[in-house]
Amino acid sequence: MNRPVPSDSAPSMPVSTPVAAIEGLSVRPLTDADIDAWVTEERMACPHALHAWTPENYRSSLRAGYWTRALCQADDVAGGAAGGASGERVVAACVAMDGVDEIHLLNIAVARGWQGRGLARELLQMLYERCHQRHAEALWLEVRPSNARARTLYQREGFVDIGVRRDYYPAQEGREDALVMRREIKLEAAHALD
Ligand SMILES: CC(C)(COP(=O)(O)OP(=O)(O)OC[C@H]1O[C@@H](n2cnc3c(N)ncnc32)[C@H](O)[C@@H]1OP(=O)(O)O)[C@@H](O)C(=O)NCCC(=O)NCCS
Repeated sequence: MNRPVPSDSAPSMPVSTPVAAIEGLSVRPLTDADIDAWVTEERMACPHALHAWTPENYRSSLRAGYWTRALCQADDVAGGAAGGASGERVVAACVAMDGVDEIHLLNIAVARGWQGRGLARELLQMLYERCHQRHAEALWLEVRPSNARARTLYQREGFVDIGVRRDYYPAQEGREDALVMRREIKLEAAHALD
């Protein structure tokens, strides 16, 4: 995934609503209070800790006012200790940056124990809805060619390969390329004519 560009605008306040498709989970924007616990989860979720976002990546995204979504489980259900200050434990998160008529998915991750249950798909659905709301005609992302799981997800969701950015990511030995993928968003006629 991409790394955010710092800026100074304020983050939005969280409003948590139940996720209809996944019992026991709610969704809201990510907050500063979530970051430390979530980054620990994300490191364990990734094939290598180097692939995970850092706390500063998340903090600068929140400062920049980027769109975020966190899928959360209440601490009393999750067992308490690993949760954040909000009384909820983040089990999946997603960050995206709005462009003029496109949106760039910067990061998406699902806690290891929650993978394979449709959470990433659920977050992508929320992102498609945002694309429609903003009349964004395309969704872009970068992914490591070695990340077979993520690539399968994106291919099944209709993303296509667009190109390669050479030596884009830090890797265990040197650098790794990024595969650039794009998904067209079919806007309804009413949106397209606005
Ligand atoms: C990639 C990732 C976000 C997928 O999250 P997830 O919640 O497990 O994905 P979902 O359950 O929504 O699965 C959706 C699709 O992903 C793919 N997928 C999920 N788990 C997979 C696995 N173990 N092997 C291969 N493909 C897999 C499948 O295409 C699946 O669709 P299917 O159920 O119809 O087969 C998750 O594995 C993750 O957090 N990985 C570490 C962080 C990361 O790599 N993020 C992507 C950065 S570009």
